Amino acid sequence: MNHPMSNDRTVSRWAMLGSMMAVLFFVTASLHAQEEPSDTKSSKQKPPRGLTSYMGRRVALPMSYHGIPWLNRPERVDEEKPSEMLEQLRLMNGMTVCDMGSGDGYYTFKMASLVAPKGRVIAVDIQPEMLQALSRRMQEVKVENIDTVLGELWDPKLEASSIDVVLMVDVYHEFSHPVQMLAAIRKALKPDGVIALVEFRAEDPTVPIKPEHKMTKAQAIKEYRANGFKLVREYDKLPQQHLMFFGRDEEWQPKD
Ligand SMILES: C[S@@+](CC[C@H](N)C(=O)[O-])C[C@H]1O[C@@H](n2cnc3c(N)ncnc32)[C@H](O)[C@@H]1O
Repeated sequence: MNHPMSNDRTVSRWAMLGSMMAVLFFVTASLHAQEEPSDTKSSKQKPPRGLTSYMGRRVALPMSYHGIPWLNRPERVDEEKPSEMLEQLRLMNGMTVCDMGSGDGYYTFKMASLVAPKGRVIAVDIQPEMLQALSRRMQEVKVENIDTVLGELWDPKLEASSIDVVLMVDVYHEFSHPVQMLAAIRKALKPDGVIALVEFRAEDPTVPIKPEHKMTKAQAIKEYRANGFKLVREYDKLPQQHLMFFGRDEEWQPKD
């Protein structure tokens, strides 16, 4: 299946339309990023400016909700081995976990069953359409231990010290505000909480994904270290993706 993230040269009309919608979404999101959100209007604070590159890496455009069929493509099972990946997260009943940049919930529902019956999944996304699709599916399959949160580009609106695991699958490289997002996630993690970062391997030219939608391990470690995280664990056996676990580095001092 063609998609804006794939570098397949056969460009179908659908893919072109998808790309146009992705650009439209990004422009809308960028404009939105420059508006004052209602809750800061009284304090006259401006939202932080978004980035097009960060620490030498080009920031990708967020994938539009028009890509929902691509997120649910059957080939994903072979390409990503979701069960093998989720096993590495060591999820347990009762945990509070976050699917950051959940899309319409490809991983949210799988996580929800792994932390049930007592645990919850907080699905955060910046596109209401993604969360609406996720909520519709919650009703269809009668799953109740998921909360949806409409985040801002710079703020996932998470409670402090509340999360055991934050999963980010093909999401981080799209953050236009990586510093603010990582600071907010760091604050939201419990002391032993971790980020499970999943990104397509940029070191491997055979992974058929556009360069700005891939990351090298070295780049990810560089960016996370600069924002108060340390690599605590990794899993190198997924077919196309890195799986890296980052925990809070308690010795880290933010530079003003
Ligand atoms: C490529 S999709 C991946 C969706 C899902 N993780 C999956 O694997 O099926 C990336 C998602 O990240 C979301 N996203 C981008 N920037 C975000 C941010 N700052 N906060 C929350 N979600 C964000 C996009 O809206 C999009 O739904």
